[in-house]
Amino acid sequence: MSQLADLEHTNSTSRPIGHGRALRLHTYGSPESFSVDSVSVPDPGPGEVLVEVKAAGVNGLDWKIRDGHVRNIFRLELPATLGIEMAGVVLQTGPGVTGLVRGDRVMAALGQCGAYADHLVIDAEKLVLTPEGLSDVEAAAIPVAAMTAWHVLQVVDFDLSERRVLIHGAAGGVGSFAVQFAKAAGAIVYATASTKSLPHVRSLGADKVIDYRHQHFELLVADIDLVVDLVGGDVVDRSWAVLSPDGILVSIAAPDVASRAPQGRRGVFLSNRPDTARLAEIAQQVATGALRSTIAEVVGFYDLPSAIERNRTGHAPGKIVADFTR
Ligand SMILES: NC(=O)c1ccc[n+]([C@@H]2O[C@H](COP(=O)([O-])OP(=O)(O)OC[C@H]3O[C@@H](n4cnc5c(N)ncnc54)[C@H](OP(=O)(O)O)[C@@H]3O)[C@@H](O)[C@H]2O)c1
Repeated sequence: MSQLADLEHTNSTSRPIGHGRALRLHTYGSPESFSVDSVSVPDPGPGEVLVEVKAAGVNGLDWKIRDGHVRNIFRLELPATLGIEMAGVVLQTGPGVTGLVRGDRVMAALGQCGAYADHLVIDAEKLVLTPEGLSDVEAAAIPVAAMTAWHVLQVVDFDLSERRVLIHGAAGGVGSFAVQFAKAAGAIVYATASTKSLPHVRSLGADKVIDYRHQHFELLVADIDLVVDLVGGDVVDRSWAVLSPDGILVSIAAPDVASRAPQGRRGVFLSNRPDTARLAEIAQQVATGALRSTIAEVVGFYDLPSAIERNRTGHAPGKIVADFTR
């Protein structure tokens, strides 16, 4: 935590030129494993862009990396700057980059870590122009949640119209988009959420909301064509019983879902992947109000470690976003 106290009292104009803040993980373990360090600003190479990050979305992957749960999948050299989505402004383009200039407002899912820093070098092809009408905080809440929800619904090989879809974890970042995408596809949407989040999920269009803290979804739904699991754990094991014979369970939280599927059941794990054209479309829909993006909480840069912990332990519906300009 060496430089945190110093930096906390240092405003951006007095930071050393060519340096910026980075929230870096030094060891696997706990919220105390992070420190805010002063790091040098990298130069963009061919095809790359240097972005001044203005806001970044907090994701479940942050604490899973922090606690070492996914160290065999995400091989990071420590200290490592976490954060997988951001919005900001182009500062400099590297050789060969076309279509972007200094001052452009951009947003992205990184497909890797590095967003929790004042400066980020990123492949130009991962960037999407932030639509007018979206603030940086609003833009940073969209990439991972919206694209993951979108891809989950693309896994199914049938038309969702009039099909029965059960979404577990519907109040979260991904779930809030998944409910809207499933409704837009014409599905009948059943959604689980905690008591406090039921009104939010209902307002997104879910046809039936189930309070997972007080109700057993197995007793309330059956013949589900698509189970969307955004929670993992025993929610997966309990969901096989509610699937229709041809149904499919898509999980983003249980990597071993296929091996846990009973004989004759289909379970698929999905990893988010970048799709800038789709992200641009979705961001535009949010900007026009056709799609709702829900922000649970906006925190400052120095609050990121506690916000990452809150992502693990529970938060209000929607996404937690860090505003670096606070
Ligand atoms: N595979 C991938 O590419 C990928 C991509 C994005 C996210 N993920 C993972 O997917 C999960 C969801 O992501 P997210 O960003 O949507 O997380 P999130 O914003 O933290 O949302 C999780 C939601 O699940 C709810 N919940 C917790 N236990 C539940 C239960 N037993 N039944 C129903 N709902 C329950 C929580 O509600 P309460 O807080 O009200 O209890 C919360 O609203 C995370 O584990 C994340 O790491 C994976």
